[in-house]
Amino acid sequence: MTTDPRIPRHVAIVMDGNGRWARRRGQPRNFGHRAGQKAVREAVEFCLRRKIETLTLFAFSSENWKRPSDEVGALMDLFLRALDKEVDELHSNEVRVRFIGGLSVFNEALRTRMLSAMEKTRGNSALDLNVCVNYGGRWDIAQAARQAVEAVQRGELDPRSLDETTLAPFMCLADQPPVDLLIRTGGEHRISNFLLWQIAYAELYFTDTLWPDVDQDELARALENYARRERRFGRTDAQIAKAS
Ligand code: FPP
Repeated sequence: MTTDPRIPRHVAIVMDGNGRWARRRGQPRNFGHRAGQKAVREAVEFCLRRKIETLTLFAFSSENWKRPSDEVGALMDLFLRALDKEVDELHSNEVRVRFIGGLSVFNEALRTRMLSAMEKTRGNSALDLNVCVNYGGRWDIAQAARQAVEAVQRGELDPRSLDETTLAPFMCLADQPPVDLLIRTGGEHRISNFLLWQIAYAELYFTDTLWPDVDQDELARALENYARRERRFGRTDAQIAKAS
């Protein structure tokens, strides 16, 4: 962990561009997803080196089910194999892995692997790696609201006290720092229903680089850019200057 405010505590990434990366090479889209796995390794390594506390990756959105079934199948297969291949290495690097999203829709084999990866690495503290699968920002807000209603029904929460502070603990990633830096690769400038609540004050960084081409240099550029931002959290620049 670092206390340097120029280093983000929590980085989130929309890993976009696998399909185009493959097409440019005359290959099927799944070739790009496989190459994307290497960039995931680069990102984890980068965060460990820079002592970033939390890395959150958008691996599969609730909308990605609309893709052709062979692509969805190949992605599931890739996740399964990645889990088998990478978890020991992540564990030896003290990475705590968590899967965030509606996990119940995944097949038994994948769900078992996800749960056992989470169980195996739960005591680690070098880096929190959140992999968002079957995740959507609106889904997250809705599931938090549902949990809050259940707490009201149990008599544990007064509905009149429901506000940003009392809803926050029900959101995914509530026990982790808010996102400081959101990176999207692949040239599109949108959030695509990724973390909505958690990025309220995040700095946004967009790059044209396609995800499989992302390496340490690309991530270093994102961090350099972040270090130059003035984060005001609603205050004026004069207030910020006075406080520092
Ligand atoms: C977006 O690119 C990428 C995805 C929907 C899948 C992300 C998966 C990986 C990076 C594979 C490895 C991940 C893990 C966690 C092991 P796209 O297909 O939308 O690309 P395009 O915009 O060029 O079509």
